[in-house]
Amino acid sequence: MIEVVRAAELGESYRRGIAEVFIDGFGPDFSYFSKDPAKLTDALEHALVLDLFYVALLEGRPAGITACTDGRQPSFRHDKRELRRHLGLYKGTVADFGFRREFSKSLPYAREGMASLEFVATGAAYRGRGVATALLTHLLALPQYDEYVLAEISDINTPALRLYEKLGFREFERTKVRHTQQTGINYYISMRLVQA
Ligand SMILES: CC(C)(COP(=O)(O)OP(=O)(O)OC[C@H]1O[C@@H](n2cnc3c(N)ncnc32)[C@H](O)[C@@H]1OP(=O)(O)O)[C@@H](O)C(=O)NCCC(=O)NCCS
Repeated sequence: MIEVVRAAELGESYRRGIAEVFIDGFGPDFSYFSKDPAKLTDALEHALVLDLFYVALLEGRPAGITACTDGRQPSFRHDKRELRRHLGLYKGTVADFGFRREFSKSLPYAREGMASLEFVATGAAYRGRGVATALLTHLLALPQYDEYVLAEISDINTPALRLYEKLGFREFERTKVRHTQQTGINYYISMRLVQA
């Protein structure tokens, strides 16, 4: 059975398991820094703002994660000393600059009642079993929000785009990227779901 809980309720002892799901989902995006998932987990686990994450537990273990913010609060907040400790001075410094640029952006259309869903991921061993569907369905029923946004999904991420469309999200913005040759990504797509 899949149970959805706030990461803050689970507490710090779950941080590692939550970070492992994060790296399962987004490790490839950080492969410049290391290709070793354990090393990436060591380097990045401190940065997850657990207060903003929800966790899908399967048999009591973190199987899926998603951050739910107001579009202004960062759900990833790193400490450059930690990055340097695990990744070394050079890569730790590059990560510090890159993460500051990438993860401190506010959504220009953020407003009260709008939720920004970030870092949707299911652990590799748990995919295709409805974990992300259960987690997002739970978030879509939170009473304080009437609009949900998923910003900057890569246009080649078919599993994610299908999942969001199935839940009722629709594209409202698309931005051409400059790194198509290196990544194969053509656009970042933003989707929203407005509830009546
Ligand atoms: C996208 C992701 C979160 C889906 O998690 P999941 O728990 O496996 O998803 P679910 O089992 O709830 O699947 C729900 C729907 O998603 C779509 N989907 C999931 N995996 C898919 C795949 N490999 N190919 C195509 N569609 C897929 C399907 O529409 C599926 O519905 P169906 O089972 O009725 O066909 C997961 O693949 C993942 O963690 N990917 C890496 C991280 C990532 O890219 N996150 C999204 C960032 S925007």
